[in-house]
Amino acid sequence: MSADKLGQPLRYGGTELPNNVLCAPLAGYTDFAFRRQCYKFGAGLCFTEMVSAKGLLYGSEATRLLLYRGADEPQTAAQLFGGDPLVMGGACAHEALAQYRAVDINMGCPVPKVYKNGEGSALLSDFSRAAAIIEACKKSGKAVSVKFRIGLDEKHIVAAEFAAMCEDAGADMITVHGRTRDRMYAGEPDYAAVAAAKNAVHIPVIANGGIFSRADALNMLDRTGADGVMLARAAMYDPHVFAEVLGARQDWDRRAVIEEQIADMLPVYGEGYTLVQMRKMTAFYLRGTRGAAKWRERLFSCPSVADLRALLGEIFPAEG
Ligand SMILES: Cc1cc2nc3c(=O)[nH]c(=O)nc-3n(C[C@H](O)[C@H](O)[C@H](O)COP(=O)(O)O)c2cc1C
Repeated sequence: MSADKLGQPLRYGGTELPNNVLCAPLAGYTDFAFRRQCYKFGAGLCFTEMVSAKGLLYGSEATRLLLYRGADEPQTAAQLFGGDPLVMGGACAHEALAQYRAVDINMGCPVPKVYKNGEGSALLSDFSRAAAIIEACKKSGKAVSVKFRIGLDEKHIVAAEFAAMCEDAGADMITVHGRTRDRMYAGEPDYAAVAAAKNAVHIPVIANGGIFSRADALNMLDRTGADGVMLARAAMYDPHVFAEVLGARQDWDRRAVIEEQIADMLPVYGEGYTLVQMRKMTAFYLRGTRGAAKWRERLFSCPSVADLRALLGEIFPAEG
């Protein structure tokens, strides 16, 4: 049954996504150049990395770069974090977000700095503020989704109640990361808690956590009844994973992917950021390939994009 469901179009917030295999927001990774590769391999929807609503309102240059959207980019949702309904509502209505028709609210980030500010996963224990944030964001007229964890710890699983609160407050879709805050990214997701969230609402529910293959995605859909899946670390290591999950595995040209990302990024982000970013991404993309360990050291000592490009020629001689 889930094999029929996996890859189906998904409607939310008045629009139809081509399929229900989504690429997660990933701080430090899901910039427009990376998203372009995920879309190319079939992702149904991508998200920007989490952007501070306060930073957006202050008009910081860093925020502007985080929100950069590619010219021919399909619909992408901008992810915001913040704990103040007024600030969150203001950010959604701000012109910096005019290019995005959909906003995702981060209610799952476990990082202490975010949590201590009453943002991210802290909202799991403040339902009324979380609801006020969703209502404030909805006033912008954008499609609004919420991404949250199943609870703070095993003794406080709130997935079903929190899902119902999101729907009542006007959310168009939710993503449930099937782990508690204290588990960070470790261990198997709690399928029962994700299923409970799915059964508590009528809006689309996306299941996230521990999906690295088509088999994992089918297992997640089977065990939770969710309407779609979201991949995070799997995409970061290998954007081609979307083709695999969608049952359209293909040989992928790692060098071409890296070169395209570099070419996209350079004019927008400049040499320094592009170099740091693409050394890191190249190391991920080489994981599991022959000689990966040997190349890592040279990769991280590349002093310029030109050197990185030359090294790519050595790493992938057949395609060079
Ligand atoms: C490096 C890194 C950055 C992340 N950044 C974000 C973020 O900006 N917003 C968010 O909602 N979740 C973020 N997450 C959480 C992921 O979106 C996802 O929920 C989590 O990794 C579980 O999925 P996975 O098991 O497929 O990796 C991040 C995770 C990682 C590993």
